[in-house]
Order: sequence, then C-alpha cells, then structure tokens
Amino acid sequence: MSNVQPGILAPVPAHARYLCCSLKAGAKPGHALRSLVEIADGDLVVVVGQPVAVALGHRIAGLRIFSTGFGSGLVLPSTSSALWCWLRGSDRGALLHLSRKVIASVSPAFNVETVIDGFKYDTGRDLTGYVDGTENPKGKKAFQATIVQGQGAGLDGSSFVAVQQWVHDFDRFASMPAKEQDNSIGRRRRDNKELAAAPRSAHIKRTAQESFAPEAFVLRRSMPWTDGVGGGLNFVAFGKSFDAFEAQMRRMVGAEDGVTDALFKFTRPVSGSYFWCPPMRKGKLDLGALGL
Ligand code: HEM
Repeated sequence: MSNVQPGILAPVPAHARYLCCSLKAGAKPGHALRSLVEIADGDLVVVVGQPVAVALGHRIAGLRIFSTGFGSGLVLPSTSSALWCWLRGSDRGALLHLSRKVIASVSPAFNVETVIDGFKYDTGRDLTGYVDGTENPKGKKAFQATIVQGQGAGLDGSSFVAVQQWVHDFDRFASMPAKEQDNSIGRRRRDNKELAAAPRSAHIKRTAQESFAPEAFVLRRSMPWTDGVGGGLNFVAFGKSFDAFEAQMRRMVGAEDGVTDALFKFTRPVSGSYFWCPPMRKGKLDLGALGL
C-alpha cells in the first residue's frame, strides 16, 4: 500500500476542501505538478484529468472525459477539469493554509475554478440524514476495487476517481413523507436498516454493487458540502477503472430498464469529472506515467 496516495484508502476526514483547476491557455503543467510532489501526503490527494495528460503528450490508459449521457437520454453535466486536489484535515484553519500553499504551487499553470468546502455530518451522513458509505468495501476488498495492479511501474498503485457535485433541494426533500424518503434511498433513516421491500427506484436497489456482472465495487469517499445556504453531496468514487461507476450510473439514469433512481426527485448533479490518481514512490507522488 506504500505506493498508494494515503488519503484514498483512509477514512473520510472531519473537514475537507476540494480545489478544481483548469489549465491556463497554452500552459505546460510539468513544473507546477512537480512542485506538488513535495507537498502531497496523507492530507492532500492530487489527481489529474485528461487535459493534463494531453498537454504533456502522454496517454493514461482508461482516463477519459466524463460522459454527458449514460444511455437513457438524461443529460448529466460534464465539467472536465485538469487538476483536482482533495485537501483533508480536522481543522479548517489548517486547510486554508494548505490551500494557499497548493494554489501558490500550481498557479503558474492552473486557474483555480472552484473551491468547495466539505465536512463530515454527524457520524458520516448525507445532509438528508442518511448514513453514507455503509456498503463500501473494506480492507483487502477496498484495495482490490480501487487500486491499479499488474500494469507496471508508474501505474501500479494509481487509481481513478469520478467526482460529481450534487445540489440538494432540501424543501422538496422535506415535503416528501418519511416513508417516501426512506424508499428513495432504500434504507430506514432511523436505524440505517435496509428495506427489503423498497421499490426498484430506491437508490441502493439501483446501485447494489453485487448485483452487477461483473460485480461493480467502488470506494465512495463522498462528503457533504455547503456554501452557507445551499448544500448537498460532493460525490467521490475511487475505482481501478471507471467501469463500476459507469455501470452504476447507467442503472441510476434508467438506461437498463427505464427506472430512474429516486434520488433525482430531490437532488441533481451540477458537475461531473473523471481523474487519474498518480501512485506514490518512496513516499512521494510518482508522475512517471506522465513523463515527469
Ligand atoms: C446526492 C447523491 C447521492 C447520495 C445522497 C447518495 C447516498 C447514498 C446512501 C445514503 C447510500 C446507502 C448507504 C451506503 O451503502 O452507503 C448509498 C449507497 C450507494 N451509493 Fe449513493 N448516493 C449518491 C450518489 C451516488 C452515485 C452518483 C453513485 C454511483 C454512480 C452512488 C453509488 C452508490 C453505491 C454503489 C452504494 C452502495 C450500494 C450497495 O452495494 O448496497 N451513489 N448512497
């Protein structure tokens, strides 16, 4: 595991900040990325998007642009980004100082487009009150679902991540009877018990990882976010490829059977990006696959 960015497999922290960056026109990002090698550790996960690989003239097999359609006609936002930094911690002041350090390092080549502050709600709930992450794979299973292996130096220990910012309509959700709320997730909020009789549109019926062939396991590390007024979930799913995420999303949008995930009744994604998470080597970010 020493070749994996430690923040990926670690539990969700109390606080986080997500910096999403685009590439400056004509910029060569090599120098800026190299400067991150010195800072990336357990408190900072650094991942890059397709625009960076293209600018550096290197192809990462499996890295692509987030699709706007998963086969149902429902259009999802695709906001391909060049660089995404997940700053993790327990202290918002420390996160601010770390963000300043990261921004100073990358600003010669990148524009910071969005800054999202995430946090742990209660013991790890979505802002609707439902526990999020219960069925995440653990230990060896989490590693196998998430980490690239057997591809050689520069790739082994790497991962892929799908990121979507979801905005909740809290009034709409509050207007739903409690039973309908539970049915939309497929679990009882009170005790997190799985509802065997939940409708096919229930979120966990749509995404049940063992029900896919092959099984579609991802490691979700989503966190609630708020801008002080609105809020929702910053959905983050790591995988050894995007295949499991895409299989789940196809079912969520109803591409297989015309049934749409009940989540769409009260929340919607406003972004969608895919990234590659470089591995570590001797305790430092290994950008060898990008020619750096
Ligand atoms: C606002 C957006 C979302 C919310 C509020 C949400 C919330 C939840 C909750 C409360 C659970 C049940 C507990 C658990 O096992 O974690 C769950 C399960 C799950 N969600 Fe989501 N989720 C969202 C988006 C997504 C998306 C976009 C995907 C993938 C495309 C996804 C994939 C999964 C998976 C794989 C499970 C576990 C299913 C199982 O194997 O039982 N979720 N989610």
